[in-house]
Amino acid sequence: MNVDPLALEHVMADGWRAVEEDRLGGWMLRASSGFTARGNSVLTAGSPGMPLPDAVAVVQDWYAARELPARFALVTDAAGAPTDPLLWERLTTLGYAADQPTLAMTASASELPALTEASPPVRADTRLTQPWLEAFAAYRSIVPGVAEQILTGSMSQLFLEVPAGPDESDQPAEPLGAIVRVALYPGWAGLHAMWVAPQRRRQGLATGLVAAVGQLCREHHIPDVYLLVQRANSAAREAFGGMGFRDHHGQLYLQRPTPELAGLSSAKPISR
Ligand SMILES: CC(C)(COP(=O)(O)OP(=O)(O)OC[C@H]1O[C@@H](n2cnc3c(N)ncnc32)[C@H](O)[C@@H]1OP(=O)(O)O)[C@@H](O)C(=O)NCCC(=O)NCCS
Repeated sequence: MNVDPLALEHVMADGWRAVEEDRLGGWMLRASSGFTARGNSVLTAGSPGMPLPDAVAVVQDWYAARELPARFALVTDAAGAPTDPLLWERLTTLGYAADQPTLAMTASASELPALTEASPPVRADTRLTQPWLEAFAAYRSIVPGVAEQILTGSMSQLFLEVPAGPDESDQPAEPLGAIVRVALYPGWAGLHAMWVAPQRRRQGLATGLVAAVGQLCREHHIPDVYLLVQRANSAAREAFGGMGFRDHHGQLYLQRPTPELAGLSSAKPISR
């Protein structure tokens, strides 16, 4: 898709607004009590408006004042090469290491799968409901209060869900069959927090949610859709690739290893 990665990064930043945000030129500092890497990293999509060493020091001080590790979100091309090699070099020289390589995928709403007779029932709500939040919290640890603020903090958002199916197993019932949050921004819909209950996977629930998003986009004249997926999540990449999404660009988080854990890479006896 012919959209500049830095421009898309700013669209995506609105899709996951941090609790506290500050500007350093074109950089965006974000803090959210440690909840999610995105909510607790400086997005370096642009120029900080000052020499790099000074900008890195400002960021480090900003995070230290909040008792958070300084974490830099760098934009990469689709293959994973940083688009700002000078910043990459500066940070790696300071001992920062890359973590959580992520891929931004995009699709035209018109190319997403269509709803069919076989599609699962999908409900959409502008409000964050308790069952949706419970389903979200079932697969990741959340910081209560902060998670709700981020999930409802975009320009506008919708919460889509597939109801729980009949309990066919002796496993504990899942709160919902599948969920996804859709962040809306002029011209864009962003898919966040897509999750299908483990016992309901490979039954077309994710496809059904994406088809419902496609339908909403077409009805509301939203041409383009994005999502973020970890590069290592081959199942999700395979699934979204089959639904019309293509690799657009990437992201890397750079953080310094926690000093007190750096020497503890293997088990060793502790003696007096
Ligand atoms: C990734 C995920 C959302 C897919 O949901 P799903 O409901 O199982 O997906 P669907 O049934 O709609 O699958 C559609 C197609 O995607 C592909 N696909 C789905 N899961 C796959 C897997 N584990 N491995 C390979 N391909 C897969 C297949 O082509 C599948 O079609 P098929 O079943 O006819 O072969 C689900 O596995 C999940 O919730 N994973 C954990 C959370 C997660 O990774 N979310 C994505 C965050 S970006």
